[in-house]
Amino acid sequence: MQGTSIVLAFLSLAGSAFARPAPAEPVPSPSVTAIASLEDRSLIGDLLGDSNGLLGDVVGDINNVLSEVGVGEVVGTQAWSTISSALAQVTATTTQTNAASAISQLSSIHAAKPSANLFEFVAAVAAEGLTANNVNDLLGFVDGLATGENSMSNVNIQAPKDTIYPRKGKDPKYSVTESSLRSAIYIPPSFTNGKVQPVILMPDISLLTGSTYADPVWLNIPGYLLNDAQTNAEYAAYAINYIASITGKKVSIIGWSQGNINIQWAFKYFTSTQKSVRNHIAISPDYAGTVNANLICPEGLPCDPAVLQQQYKGTSNFIDQLRLNGGDSAYVPTTTVYSGLFDEIVEPQQGTGASAYLNDARKVGVTNNYLQGICNPVLPAGSFYTHEGVLYNPIAFGLVKDALINGGAGQTSRLDLNTLCNMYLAEGLNVSDLLLTENAILVAALALVLYEPKVSAEPAIKAYATY
Ligand SMILES: *[C@@H]1O[C@H](CO)[C@@H](O)[C@H](O)[C@H]1NC(C)=O
Repeated sequence: MQGTSIVLAFLSLAGSAFARPAPAEPVPSPSVTAIASLEDRSLIGDLLGDSNGLLGDVVGDINNVLSEVGVGEVVGTQAWSTISSALAQVTATTTQTNAASAISQLSSIHAAKPSANLFEFVAAVAAEGLTANNVNDLLGFVDGLATGENSMSNVNIQAPKDTIYPRKGKDPKYSVTESSLRSAIYIPPSFTNGKVQPVILMPDISLLTGSTYADPVWLNIPGYLLNDAQTNAEYAAYAINYIASITGKKVSIIGWSQGNINIQWAFKYFTSTQKSVRNHIAISPDYAGTVNANLICPEGLPCDPAVLQQQYKGTSNFIDQLRLNGGDSAYVPTTTVYSGLFDEIVEPQQGTGASAYLNDARKVGVTNNYLQGICNPVLPAGSFYTHEGVLYNPIAFGLVKDALINGGAGQTSRLDLNTLCNMYLAEGLNVSDLLLTENAILVAALALVLYEPKVSAEPAIKAYATY
């Protein structure tokens, strides 16, 4: 399938952050539910000029089953399988041919129904042809075996030059086997082993491949990052120490979404990693979790471990433990980049109150880069960018490149903002790359639906995490 490789590389970060809605909401009665779903149909129907009645039906099915969970009429497995079958019916009815109109269409979907749950949002995105592949291809893809740079079963025969397993220095012992930790790292044949700055990518940033300033490897964590976030952090910690050890260089690391809080947990508790990292670039991170009230996991619906762990601070043990004692400040030079209009996964994501916002108590160097604060929102690069859309934004890529070339945190003062703010896509990307990137959110939603086993409470905090 065209674009497969990019998709799963994104997916490896796609555990992402969906929260339970605030339990204080009154439980809707079935009759209110039925009315609500009729309203959904007309809104989505209007949006598509009534050309796609199927989308209205799909969204109706999804919202009905989610409301039935709310009143205890449906159990979890039934709800998840209804959502999965409903999404499988969606097909694209439009073809997107340029970036400006694709971004405008994404914005219209949000404007038509700002409170859409993730599943109806992705149904509309797929129906509008805003993903490179259709739902059925991607369903097969989520189930299938990933190869190449997306492979989770790589053979890396190079032995590290120092002891990094079962623990490095005073780090906790890993709970995952070394063979699993190491085989999640895809090192391309072109890897220079340290001649060029090594970069661990938790998203795929294809623009880095072949560059003179970055030598990427990919980290593909099993379970699509939906498993215990503390386990995901072990993969990040091992990959950092492994790549630093075989190259003899400090690594740069770029994360998207949940990947960043896995990395932050690794820095905090697997402290040996801090000395092995040159800098960290965090795209759409959720250091404070998310208040997103989307109906992803309503009360009574068992969900994926990492999703429960990314509820907003004060309601997630994982997030609260992460932020404790300076965990809300950087451990290494860090660049955060995020969109306040509109991150459909992480909210709040605006200005200094954003979940992405990282403090700098240790004075290691942090820049927090809010797209709509850097470029006027009337200009292309300050306009509408989704959770995954930040990955194709020209300012975000400018900061990635800046941080990799200069070290430390990326600085907008070194960017040509007059040029970049007037572009929709990072230089070198076109609408095909935008659609491939938008695949990421559809794949994330499908992986979220299909992940097993669902749990009803977040995993316990590990014994080593005592501060
Ligand atoms: C986008 O660029 C790629 C090459 O990087 C090319 O194969 C593809 O056809 C382009 N797509 C469009 C719509 O121009």
